[in-house]
Amino acid sequence: MTLKVGIVGTGWFSKVHGDILAEAEGVRIAATCGTSMEKANSLASRYSGARGFDRLTDMLDSEQLDAVYLCIPPMAHEGMETELIARGIPFLVEKPLGVDLDGPNKILEQLRRNPVITSVGYHFRYKQSALQLKELLKGQKIGMALGTWMGSMPGVGWWRKQEGSGGQFIEQTTHLVDLLRYVAGEVEEVYAAYANRIVHEQHEGVTVSDVGTVTLKLSSGAIANLSNTCVLPDAVGEVGLSFYTEQGILAWDPDQLEIKNNGVSTSYSSTDNPYVAETAAFLHAVRTGDASGIRSDYADAVRTQAVTCAALESSITGQAVRVF
Ligand SMILES: NC(=O)c1ccc[n+]([C@@H]2O[C@H](COP(=O)([O-])OP(=O)(O)OC[C@H]3O[C@@H](n4cnc5c(N)ncnc54)[C@H](O)[C@@H]3O)[C@@H](O)[C@H]2O)c1
Repeated sequence: MTLKVGIVGTGWFSKVHGDILAEAEGVRIAATCGTSMEKANSLASRYSGARGFDRLTDMLDSEQLDAVYLCIPPMAHEGMETELIARGIPFLVEKPLGVDLDGPNKILEQLRRNPVITSVGYHFRYKQSALQLKELLKGQKIGMALGTWMGSMPGVGWWRKQEGSGGQFIEQTTHLVDLLRYVAGEVEEVYAAYANRIVHEQHEGVTVSDVGTVTLKLSSGAIANLSNTCVLPDAVGEVGLSFYTEQGILAWDPDQLEIKNNGVSTSYSSTDNPYVAETAAFLHAVRTGDASGIRSDYADAVRTQAVTCAALESSITGQAVRVF
């Protein structure tokens, strides 16, 4: 059976997902939806047989879709998931789930009443190296973890506005929070310090913090620190998450996993494309009803969102915040 898929959002990441879907067996991109017909038609023209729409309800009324990809900015989720849940349509939604926790919690309630298959774009979970890290950590006692997301400010306008993206920790560093939860368990408490140092002097209308550091206490008793910045020039940066255990250091980054113990260092490079694996797991679930291959569903992603939103609250109040 050929699955008919719709894509909402017409930006960079819609194309990334769309191109993977266009290559997948037994899938047709039937519709695209954007903020204007021009943008929607432009994306639709990339995929044979796709039609453009400028309203989600028009798209869903016109096409019998088997699944929808939501690739929209964090502030633009209003009503989208609700509409899909009401119609019983499975969806893959890009992270983060929103700019706060209230909206995602309401959607989670709707999903509990009317379940549909969901997947959330925490793609690091689909890297072979992340699975390897998770397996290795099962046999070790984690003392602490340190993670960094150090880069430049993305060019899109919504990212630099607090009400548009939620800020770097909610929008970007959420990937590390999610990976930390995936391989090391739940987070119970956070304490955060954020500051605006540089980018608001370089660009108009920047309201997000450009440096931040968050201390996290895990249910296991381990502690972690995740720090981020977007002050760096383009093409300079580092992203990674390292674990310190009684057996040594496990240093993960998107390209490799390095294990250092007993004076020996072993590196495993990881070149697999996690977005392809993420889409394969989602499509399999839509086809068969077997969602066991989906590594981040909506309910799980809400827990990651709870941590990143607690960090924002802590950065404002100056107090440690309990997550659950
Ligand atoms: N998992 C990953 O690795 C990864 C990478 C990049 C982006 N993302 C996520 O994907 C999402 C989109 O990012 P992007 O880089 O494509 O952004 P973008 O700015 O390039 O594109 C966003 C698109 O959404 C459209 N849009 C805005 N409001 C809309 C609405 N109400 N209805 C329909 N379309 C609307 C905009 O017109 C634009 O075309 C973000 O949440 C981002 O965090 C995830």
